[in-house]
Amino acid sequence: MNQIEQRTKRTEWFRNDRFGMFIHWGLYSIPARGEWVRSMEKLSIEQYQPYFDGFNPDAYDPRQWAKTAKAAGMKYAVLTAKHHDGFCLFDSKLTDYKAPNTKAGRDLIREYVDAFRAEGLKVGIYYSLIDWHHPDYPAYGDRIHPMRDNEAWKDKKHTFSRYLDYMHGQVRELCTNYGKIDLLWFDFSYDKMTGEAWRGTELMTMIRQLQPDVLVDNRLEASGEGYGSILSAEPGLTSGDFASPEQIIPNAGIRNVKGDSVPWEACITLNNNWGFNAADPYWKSSAQIIRKLVECVSKNGNLLLNVGPDARGRIPAESVRILAEVGAWMDQNKASIHGCGASTLPKPDWGRFTQKGNTIYAHILEAPVGPLCLPDLAGKVQTVRLVSTGNEVKLADTWNTKAHAEHAFLTFGPTAHETYPLPDEVDTVVSFELKK
Ligand code: GLC
Repeated sequence: MNQIEQRTKRTEWFRNDRFGMFIHWGLYSIPARGEWVRSMEKLSIEQYQPYFDGFNPDAYDPRQWAKTAKAAGMKYAVLTAKHHDGFCLFDSKLTDYKAPNTKAGRDLIREYVDAFRAEGLKVGIYYSLIDWHHPDYPAYGDRIHPMRDNEAWKDKKHTFSRYLDYMHGQVRELCTNYGKIDLLWFDFSYDKMTGEAWRGTELMTMIRQLQPDVLVDNRLEASGEGYGSILSAEPGLTSGDFASPEQIIPNAGIRNVKGDSVPWEACITLNNNWGFNAADPYWKSSAQIIRKLVECVSKNGNLLLNVGPDARGRIPAESVRILAEVGAWMDQNKASIHGCGASTLPKPDWGRFTQKGNTIYAHILEAPVGPLCLPDLAGKVQTVRLVSTGNEVKLADTWNTKAHAEHAFLTFGPTAHETYPLPDEVDTVVSFELKK
């Protein structure tokens, strides 16, 4: 099988599951100003050390995190094992800058993988290629390093190959010590730091030997700013298995140069921060999240929705509330998300279609005046059912649809020509099959 055929086979579960939880958690949860605080505020390692000394997540309960994700209808999760600050949540033998050496006193990734597997979710690990703590990672003159313009760092020498040995060694630890890993989420490539600059082929060869079925994102070659070679006709080992648009949903999904759909996953925050930020109240509503999840699936994509637990290890109450509301909708309508993708039907103006085999799911996001139009489907629609209850929804054929004979129409009330509220104003989902 070529790379695209292998990718298609490998991503089958991913393209079925559609909805995952991203979890950004680490020392940056203590200053509570987002995960880039060291770079944004140009904090030295010494200025950041109190967060290492004070890291004591007494409320860390990954089993509760997993239950929250599962109740929301999520099927997989991705947790930051190491973010750009270089702090490791896992018990790496290659560094002392790790959770077992803090007051946490233990391997927090171990507990995460055990808890999420126990709840039946697949486990992903985020690993930052960037490392602002390691002495051999480029600092002065780098685009984003906290010490990028600190004159005292101007003459510091670093041996990048030593950092790459460290990075490869840690990826080996993560692929060896935690059982079957379902997804590796690298982050991110920039400027000359891309592909073979990371010794990407060597890294991927090792990963494929240790975890042959693991999915890898496209950020050995890209970031949220682009896609890398995953869109090419002949992607390589470092192209990745899925594209990772960030804080955006591609207008028409993602296709390669041949026009074939490429697996993709939009990663989106619940407010505007990945890591916990106490000053960010801009929470998205559950209605918006539901509609964005539908949008991703209608375009053959996934949604990886982020939570940023606080310094004690708790997912913020607002996030828990939003996810619970999303879960209530998913309880009723998950058949229109899990296992679904883009429809053969064009997007209607009142919402979106998702599809699984011959079953079409109409996501009605805007209530009609009078009956709802199913464009160009006159005489083609079999029995229509309300997904949440299974009730039949009547096809409408009445005096005010006569002039529109090419279309099919639905009504949600007793008389076909009048206007009724939708059963669910956020997203009313009905299903039907087309007559052969
Ligand atoms: C960007 C940010 C990083 C975050 C990632 C999530 O790369 O730099 O902090 O983890 O997006 O996609």
